[in-house]
Amino acid sequence: MEIKKIAVLGAGQMGNGIAHVCAQAGYEVKMRDIDQKFIDKGLATIKKNLDRGVAKERMTQAEADEVFGRVQGVLDLKDAVKDVDLVIEAIPEIVKLKLDTWREVDGAAPEHAILASNTSSISITQMAAVTKRPEKFIGMHFFNPVPVMGLVEIIKGQATDDATVKVIEDVSHKVGKKTVLVNEAPGFAVNRLLVPALLEAVFAIQEGVATVEDMDLAIKLGLNWPMGPLTLADFVGLDTMLYIADYFVDEFKDSKYRAPALLRKMVRAGWVGRKAGMGFYDYSGEKPVPNKF
Ligand code: 3HC
Repeated sequence: MEIKKIAVLGAGQMGNGIAHVCAQAGYEVKMRDIDQKFIDKGLATIKKNLDRGVAKERMTQAEADEVFGRVQGVLDLKDAVKDVDLVIEAIPEIVKLKLDTWREVDGAAPEHAILASNTSSISITQMAAVTKRPEKFIGMHFFNPVPVMGLVEIIKGQATDDATVKVIEDVSHKVGKKTVLVNEAPGFAVNRLLVPALLEAVFAIQEGVATVEDMDLAIKLGLNWPMGPLTLADFVGLDTMLYIADYFVDEFKDSKYRAPALLRKMVRAGWVGRKAGMGFYDYSGEKPVPNKF
């Protein structure tokens, strides 16, 4: 089966990155969100990242314009999916919202279309079960920032068939990513390791082990991470981290995944990281300034 047209649901930090790399690989992309302002913001981010590629002489302006021209912003969900070969969903990590969206997509997308979720932890099998094509349902987990990160984690649900895995491997390779195939489990492979590590860094701040900047510097230089764990937590989004921690506790029935009270307090305050301008760092100035806890 050849994929030509892709619908990306969600124009946020993951959705616009996925739309970008798909368009760059030659696919026609419809990027759907629920409000024109989110679509405009997503398109502006894609344009900014393409312009950076032009400035660095990685592509010509004409090539960048051609890629940008392959992304169409769409408001209506049915309109977005009605004539595509693949739907990649990158909407918020709210189980009910995902299930409702997948029911609607399943009713409107062509019968042959593959349905892929970019969820960071929610059960692929649970989402597949609300559709009439669970064998064509799969996890396709990208990493932020999507244009830069080299991996797609492919997750097989209970009913996902091998033909679907093969198509998604091919698409992932075509958009320039290496793939790993994992069986369904909470957090799959990467977040199973990453989220507990980031939560531990927040516990360390809560307990006064080190300042935010020292904790980040320690791990950045001591472990050669590209970003310290608190910078990375702000980058991923503290709301997403909290969601995954709570989901892990529910699924594993193991309190070792519990979220530190500090994380919950910050999310309640709206300090959800870089996208909100405030998290472990204050992003309102020219350079991020570490907060004191
Ligand atoms: N979009 C597109 N390109 C970007 C970008 C963005 N948001 N941010 C940076 N880049 C590009 C830059 O243009 C630059 O390109 P070049 O090498 O061709 O010049 C390159 O990335 C490096 O950027 P910088 O020099 O500005 O900065 P760094 O060297 O610090 O790299 C980084 C930035 C790539 C974000 C790096 O810090 C990094 O790898 N951080 C860790 C990211 C990570 O762990 N992501 C995974 C998060 S977990 C996740 O997504 C899963 C979810 O389920 C939770």
